Amino acid sequence: MTNIEEIRSKQVNFKVALADKAGLVNSTLSELLQRHPDIIGELKTAIKYSLESPGKRIRGALVLWSCELVCGAVNCEAETAAAAIEMVHAYSLVHDDLPAMDNDDLRRGRPSCHKKFDEATAILAGDGLLTLAFEILASEISEPGMAVRMIKTLASACGPAGMIEGQMADLQSQNSRGTMDILRHIHINKTAKMFAAAAVMGAIAGGANDEQIEHLLKYGLKLGLGFQVADDILDISASSEHLGKTSGKDARQGKVTYPAVAGLAESERIAESLCHEAVESLDIFGAGTDFLRQLAVAMLERTR
Ligand code: IPE
Ligand code: IPE
Ligand code: MG
Ligand code: MG
Ligand code: MG
Repeated sequence: MTNIEEIRSKQVNFKVALADKAGLVNSTLSELLQRHPDIIGELKTAIKYSLESPGKRIRGALVLWSCELVCGAVNCEAETAAAAIEMVHAYSLVHDDLPAMDNDDLRRGRPSCHKKFDEATAILAGDGLLTLAFEILASEISEPGMAVRMIKTLASACGPAGMIEGQMADLQSQNSRGTMDILRHIHINKTAKMFAAAAVMGAIAGGANDEQIEHLLKYGLKLGLGFQVADDILDISASSEHLGKTSGKDARQGKVTYPAVAGLAESERIAESLCHEAVESLDIFGAGTDFLRQLAVAMLERTR
């Protein structure tokens, strides 16, 4: 059995390391935007507003740690991939908040993009972020084979057999009773596949072999599913001020969530067992897995 207590005892280091990785992701994002002077006006303002708002940068950090695990250091391919996945994630939040979707006015402690600007601008800023992510992978990753593998990984995670299907199923299941199978389908697709893509893109950047990629993919899926279970729990247990987004809205909107279908205590148990499974999928690696192990525990214990 994985020793969660031992991993927990190193949380302080982890927070410093996450802040460090988030800083690197933020500076890469700003640098990449500066290289696109052709993005202008209100669209640029809305893109910057959504991208540079204070997100946790967990998917970006996961790319960087996964690369570090495989090759011992962060390289510029991993930095590019981290920025690309945070762009896709930012787009997904802008669209998730739209009135036609979750109709949420608060994001990252600020007015949502469609509130700050207007709906059309939010739709277009989201489209812009999504497209820019792929342009950046295609133009900044110098080895064409690596660029194609990253593009394919990210596109399939966020596309119609990934996040978009998850968002569709999330909306279609609203105000229905839901089952554990439907719930799993929604959460794997809307959230877990993006975490898996982050881990795999980092592995690709680091030159991982097939076995390493397979295990990091599994780690990302377990971590991402657990992350969304925790998100569902936080929606009922934390305040809007603390979360920086509107709490209590899942129940109001009749969302199929883990607490709604399985109950709060069972949801906490499921999150814990996903954390164990995520950590166990790192067992094939020798040293260097500390931060990824701690990330799995931090996901369990996060408060925002
Ligand atoms: C929010 O993700 C959307 C979910 C998949 C639950 P995060 O909690 O990672 O959001 P930011 O990027 O930190 O704002
Ligand atoms: C959203 O899930 C997942 C995405 C793909 C954006 P939620 O709708 O639960 O995310 P929050 O709670 O609004 O961040
Ligand atoms: Mg949603
Ligand atoms: Mg939402
Ligand atoms: Mg949520």
